[in-house]
Amino acid sequence: MKALVYHGPGERAWEDVPEPQLQQPTDVIVQVDTTTICGTDLHIMKGDVPAVTDGRVLGHEGVGTITEVGDGVKTLVVGDRVIISCITSCGSCSYCRQQLPSHCLDDEGTAGIGWILGHLIDGTQAEYVRIPHADNSLHKLPEGVDDESALMLSDILPTGFEIGVRNGRVKPGDVVAVIGAGPVGLSVIATTGLYGASRIVAIDLDDNRLELARSLGATDTVNSGEAGWQDDVYAMTDGYGVDVAVEAVGIPATFDACTELIRPGGTVANVGVHGTSVELKLQDLWIKDVTITTGLVSATTTPMLLKLVAQHKLAPGRFVSHRYDLDAMMEAYDTFGRAAETQAFKMAISR
Ligand SMILES: NC(=O)c1ccc[n+]([C@@H]2O[C@H](COP(=O)([O-])OP(=O)(O)OC[C@H]3O[C@@H](n4cnc5c(N)ncnc54)[C@H](O)[C@@H]3O)[C@@H](O)[C@H]2O)c1
Ligand SMILES: [Zn+2]
Ligand SMILES: [Zn+2]
Repeated sequence: MKALVYHGPGERAWEDVPEPQLQQPTDVIVQVDTTTICGTDLHIMKGDVPAVTDGRVLGHEGVGTITEVGDGVKTLVVGDRVIISCITSCGSCSYCRQQLPSHCLDDEGTAGIGWILGHLIDGTQAEYVRIPHADNSLHKLPEGVDDESALMLSDILPTGFEIGVRNGRVKPGDVVAVIGAGPVGLSVIATTGLYGASRIVAIDLDDNRLELARSLGATDTVNSGEAGWQDDVYAMTDGYGVDVAVEAVGIPATFDACTELIRPGGTVANVGVHGTSVELKLQDLWIKDVTITTGLVSATTTPMLLKLVAQHKLAPGRFVSHRYDLDAMMEAYDTFGRAAETQAFKMAISR
């Protein structure tokens, strides 16, 4: 079969690899019907994730059809349409039982790491993929949910909801600022309304993304490339700052900005993946009664989000900006890698 294989920093190929085989009784094989590329895959391509080694098939998102089932699989059969979760979980270790399968202790991949697909084992940017602990790591797709909407439930929508909205403890009436209107930031924006935010302020440097943010639920947009933009945000509150500030970029400047925009008693929810340390200005923050949260998506909310998608309360299919055939994977990567130029957002790459 064909798959997108990582060959070290900057090197990738759409090439022939052996088809995956069942290895454990709890495995299934899924034919990938639609997959996509995550910002994290671009980090891998730059060499930022050294655990990914030469020869690894990338990808941790996808929707597919089960073609083989191990003897120990209880709830799935050949032919089921499924969402592949970015988190693979055994369901029985202490972290899985605490609803934190992002730290699943099973030793498939590495004990303590739930994100193994396209990281520590071969992933979804391929014609077929092996899914360990299939009963816990796949979600059956109900009739009427299209592949493109379902694809956003593998990673991006649960990430925004769990690490942005839920960790941010958004309450009815809150003013929520989201810095970074990429797929993750927009997932925060698209799900903040579930907890009753009164105002949702999207902040980014890119006006195209701000426009998209507005179409997905932002009530206000601010371009942070303009001097004095913070004053525009304060003016949307009583002058004391926002209730919740979500960091969805992953650089020190935007984390700092979140801690400055937050009002006393508020929450900074960090979603961004940071590569360098940031300065925590405790001399200013200690007196503000603020909470700062961090997290890695566990995708435990995928079933709940799937119900909302099935009832058309959320329409994440609108995140798809470009469509490709699986065989055009290399071109899809190229377009996604030049997002500022191509206005790429989420790719739907289908067989
Ligand atoms: N915690 C988790 O579980 C988790 C899961 C997935 C992704 N992430 C991380 O979330 C972050 C966002 O992911 P994404 O896929 O949306 O990324 P992205 O690169 O597509 O989007 C980032 C957005 O930030 C904007 N931006 C860049 N610099 C800015 C600045 N100085 N001020 C304001 N806006 C700025 C860009 O214009 C872009 O729209 C990344 O760091 C990613 O690694 C975290
Ligand atoms: Zn991802
Ligand atoms: Zn586990």
